Amino acid sequence: MENMVTREDLRVYSDVQGTCEALAEALVALANACCARQGRFTVALSGGKTPEALFRILAEKYHDALPWQKIHLFWGDDRFVPHDDPSSNYRMARLILLDHVSIPTGNIHPMPIFFRDINEAAADYEATLKSYFEQPWPRFDLILLGLGADGHTASLFPHSEVLRRRDRWVAAVLADTKPPLRLTLTLPVINNAAHVWFLITGASKAPALLRALTEGTDPETCPARAVRPTNGELLWWLDAPAASLLRQVPDPEGA
Ligand code: 6PG
Repeated sequence: MENMVTREDLRVYSDVQGTCEALAEALVALANACCARQGRFTVALSGGKTPEALFRILAEKYHDALPWQKIHLFWGDDRFVPHDDPSSNYRMARLILLDHVSIPTGNIHPMPIFFRDINEAAADYEATLKSYFEQPWPRFDLILLGLGADGHTASLFPHSEVLRRRDRWVAAVLADTKPPLRLTLTLPVINNAAHVWFLITGASKAPALLRALTEGTDPETCPARAVRPTNGELLWWLDAPAASLLRQVPDPEGA
C-alpha cells in the first residue's frame, strides 16, 4: 500500500513568507536535535527560486541559532555550470545564505563543475557522498525539494531514464530538459533520507502538486509522486495558492 498522504503531512500557510518562516523554525529544531544526538546534521539543499525566501530567513533570523560547525550542506541537484553562473543553485545559496553565516568552508559540498565530462562530475560527487555516508545508500538527515510545474523534483524530469537509476547515488541529466546539463541525486538516495521536505509555493504549482498527491498518478509523468521515503518523514510545506486545488486542505497557518 503506497504511503497515504494525510492532513498531517501537509503544512499550509497563507503566503510564501509564512511558509518559509515555519519551515525555517522546524529546520532549526531538527538541525539542533540531530547535532545533539549524533554530532552532525546533513542536509541536501534544493535549488531554483522557491528556496530563496527560506535561505534569507535562515541567514537573517537564525544565523546564530544553528550549530554551523556541525552542519554539512550538500545539494540535491545543480546545473552543470560554473559556480558564478546566474543559474547555479550553489551560487544562489552562497549569495543569500552561505556568505552570511559562520559555516566552515569544509562543511559546504557543492556539486563539482570543473570536469569536462559531466559523468565524471557525477562520479566525483558520489565519491564525496561516500566519504560522508555509509553504504549501500546515504541517509541524509534532511533533503529539501522543490516542485516544477511539470512535476519534476530535484533534476528528475518526466520520462527521464534517470528516474529508473538504482545503481548510482548521483546521475548526470543530459537530455530531459533545456540546457544547461544538470547533476541530481537519484530516487533511492532521496527515498533513503530521514526527512524529506517539499517547499512549494505559488498557484502555478497547484496542478502539479495535486498530481503528486493523487493516488495512481504515474511517477513517470510526475516524478515528485515517486518521492516516498522508505523509512523517513515526508512533509509538504505549502502556501495557500500552491495548495488551492487540494480538497480538505488544513486551514492555513499549519495543520
Ligand atoms: C532546480 C531545482 C528544481 C526546482 C524546481 C522548482 O535546480 O531547478 O532543483 O527541482 O526545485 O524546478 O523551481 P522554482 O523554485 O524556481 O519554481
